[in-house]
Amino acid sequence: MKKLNVALIGYQFMGRAHSNAWRQVGKFFDLPFEPVMKVVCGRNEADVKKAADKLGWQEHATSWQEVVARKDIDVVDICTPGDSHMPIALAAAEAKKVVFCEKPLANTLAEATRMLDAVKRAGVLHMICHNYRRVPAVALAKELISQGKIGTIRHYRGVYLQDWIVDPEFPRVWRLDKAKAGSGALGDIASHSLDFARYLVGEIAEVTGMMKTFITERPLPGEKKRAPVDVDDAALTLLRFENGAIGSVEGSRFATGRKNYNRFEINGSKGSVAFDLERLNELEVYIEEGPNSGFRTVLVTDGKHPYIQGWWPPGHLIGYEHSFTHTVLDLVHAIDEQKLPSPNFEDGVKNQRVLDAIERSAASGRWEKSS
Ligand SMILES: NC(=O)c1ccc[n+]([C@@H]2O[C@H](COP(=O)([O-])OP(=O)(O)OC[C@H]3O[C@@H](n4cnc5c(N)ncnc54)[C@H](O)[C@@H]3O)[C@@H](O)[C@H]2O)c1
Repeated sequence: MKKLNVALIGYQFMGRAHSNAWRQVGKFFDLPFEPVMKVVCGRNEADVKKAADKLGWQEHATSWQEVVARKDIDVVDICTPGDSHMPIALAAAEAKKVVFCEKPLANTLAEATRMLDAVKRAGVLHMICHNYRRVPAVALAKELISQGKIGTIRHYRGVYLQDWIVDPEFPRVWRLDKAKAGSGALGDIASHSLDFARYLVGEIAEVTGMMKTFITERPLPGEKKRAPVDVDDAALTLLRFENGAIGSVEGSRFATGRKNYNRFEINGSKGSVAFDLERLNELEVYIEEGPNSGFRTVLVTDGKHPYIQGWWPPGHLIGYEHSFTHTVLDLVHAIDEQKLPSPNFEDGVKNQRVLDAIERSAASGRWEKSS
């Protein structure tokens, strides 16, 4: 079988999730290529060596510049904080690699646009990792909407709620540093909810936004010294879609008791769908069918449901990590067919345009155009 050599940059949270996906995908699905976990890259030699051994990479490296220039690498998989997405992606595109990048695409709209220009100029395939699109229940919601089962969409209601920084003494990690992360809850979690909105409902024409930082100073990790927090702890937005639907998105890291509550509800003229990541094997569906109609919970674990044929018999549940395996599966097929995968850097830029408009609106107090 043909081989597809992968280089992973960054090996912590997303690096582990992507490593698992590359390791598992060929064990459960038929592939046109054998993915080869060639090299993982980090900054600390001892740590990255340990990560390579544990996660199953053949080699380790400490310079992403050298890794992306290697002739034997086909795919560069970017799992680093936002401030390094652009330089790595530009170099990878120039070296004619397939570029697979974590979300949000970059820290600013200008950087995201440069990344899109670079992959287009180089003529290379590109994908952004909005993995939640490939949770089977979300893919089923997409099928039902595309088949017109819930009619004309009127409402999108998305929330993405966490509580991991409620303690004011929680350290100022990179996610709380604008220079590293670009924004806070907005780019980190609301961006997923906004991707759902674009994927399931349509393009977002304009927004009004509000952003709040509750704790403005925190201790630096491992130090007594404190440093300012210059990103949002929570971000809220109202949305006007180009197709006439209206919506709202709320992202917060201060929703006490909510761990990874990524939920949406979509109401159409003939029915509704609702999804909650913390119950990811289920989709709530309401189809207007007269006096006996009501919401029912569909257990999305049948062979006929999206992606499930690769896994277990009905009712044998799948988890968070499978969304990454499905994303890598579709990426590998797209590479074989030389077709642009979805979502790609175009989607990354459109998402970033909405993030940018929300920030502008939060500053101006006015509705701002987002497409
Ligand atoms: N798709 C999702 O659901 C999802 C979830 C979490 C994070 N993310 C995104 O994934 C990216 C990484 O987040 P994370 O949670 O994995 O962060 P993390 O802190 O867990 O890991 C970051 C990794 O990048 C490495 N790194 C940092 N700078 C580097 C450099 N210059 N060269 C080489 N390696 C470098 C670090 O050593 C570490 O291994 C971010 O863009 C984040 O927004 C996406």
